[in-house]
Amino acid sequence: LPGAEVLIVSNREPYIHNRSDGGVVVQTPASGLVSALEPVIRACGGTWIAHGSGDADRETVDERDRIAVPPEAPAYSLRRIWISEEEQDGYYYGLANEGLWPLCHIAFVRPVFREADWRAYEKINERFAEAVAREAQTDDPIVLVQDYHFALAPRMIRERLPKATIIAFWHIPWPNAETFGICPWKERIIEGLLGCTILGFHTRFHCNNFFETVDRFVESRIDREHGTVTLGGHETFVRAYPISIDWPPKALAAQPSVEECRLQTRRSLGLASDVMLAVGIERFDYTKGILDRMKAVDLLLTLDPSLKGRFVFVQAAAPTRSRLPTYSRLQSEAQELAREINARHGDESYRPIRLVIRHHEPAEVFGLFRAADLCIVSSLHDGMNLVAKEFVASRDDEQGVLVLSSFTGASREMAEALIVNPYNIQEMAEAIGMALRIPANEQRERMRLMRQRVRERNVYRWAGQMLIDAARSRQQRRILDI
Ligand code: G6P
Repeated sequence: LPGAEVLIVSNREPYIHNRSDGGVVVQTPASGLVSALEPVIRACGGTWIAHGSGDADRETVDERDRIAVPPEAPAYSLRRIWISEEEQDGYYYGLANEGLWPLCHIAFVRPVFREADWRAYEKINERFAEAVAREAQTDDPIVLVQDYHFALAPRMIRERLPKATIIAFWHIPWPNAETFGICPWKERIIEGLLGCTILGFHTRFHCNNFFETVDRFVESRIDREHGTVTLGGHETFVRAYPISIDWPPKALAAQPSVEECRLQTRRSLGLASDVMLAVGIERFDYTKGILDRMKAVDLLLTLDPSLKGRFVFVQAAAPTRSRLPTYSRLQSEAQELAREINARHGDESYRPIRLVIRHHEPAEVFGLFRAADLCIVSSLHDGMNLVAKEFVASRDDEQGVLVLSSFTGASREMAEALIVNPYNIQEMAEAIGMALRIPANEQRERMRLMRQRVRERNVYRWAGQMLIDAARSRQQRRILDI
């Protein structure tokens, strides 16, 4: 797509400036969306429009609310949008995270829908669509609209820039029609998304759920064979594009050897060098199955007491959306559970569960991955899950075992992991026990295959495939002169 202008729209920004000890620090947020898209826009340049969420964000932008990033080697422009606390409560905490997030994840947390949240959501979608129209320097840019925060934006952008190629990507699962049907604004959400040229999901399964939902609730023409939906004369292609990661990941470059990571991490945790280590690393979110995996560790230590003193599970969890009761409750429940398990199986010198609640920068995350004997990803439901792919990418020694929930998009591409049902604690405990016994040569075989696949299907292929489809659609439109 030579010469085409690229704009990204997402809620979360790739770099957050925060005040700290009288100075300003730059943070990389824990977000699968950000880790996937950042290398892509770094490679192709353009403008990323996102919420300026840091308390020092305003001080760092120019008079047009822009800042060139990455800070160390600017390659694209970050345009920040300001959202008041009250608007955040409605649009981000309310509709997006108390409504759409639990609705789509089917994690048995009841979604909450409030009229006022919906109005804030509409208003903020409008604000971003307006910013796209203002930032665009051509009348036919490629606009990449990201995630469930912006279901209405594609249609709003289309109204302002009729010739734009709008690609919307839904980073979370799309549930079945029955489930989606409980959303009071389902028709508006679907119509909003159908303003785009291409609508992407992680898996074919989510695309099928989307077709079914459209079929049930919106008067339109669906062509499943070609993967299109036509509404009011406008055609949208609906496709699966499994998201992935940068290869090799940037955070891997400065890592010491695996041996060094193993020693350093164990030393910093006060553990002997031969202690077996399992890790879990993610945002503190109820969809991730963090309590379930802790219960599995608990059961494992009951089933096999010989592991006491020889095995430790480190859960690194970044606080997230903590203003919502479901999230703050989860944190206290996890802390309580960790205390109980440690009291049951440990003593003054041995604590089998280490819960580290704070933000971790990518370099630290990769250091932990490299130090671990196994990584546990036990999401109750997850669109893709990039932690699984990052763990594999971090292991250039081809060692380490991945225990992976079957309810992640990633499990469809990573069959060599130990695939588990996170709702089945017994099965998960047995899988962790088994992971600790897999011999080095078998670890190598499994890891090699997973690494090969993630390397081939990296995030450039994800973006590339969408852009190829976009180019095809632009060409078609040019021929048909529409
Ligand atoms: C998921 C969502 C992203 C979001 C990320 C972090 O991966 O799909 O859109 O950025 O979680 O959540 P947060 O609310 O902190 O941005």
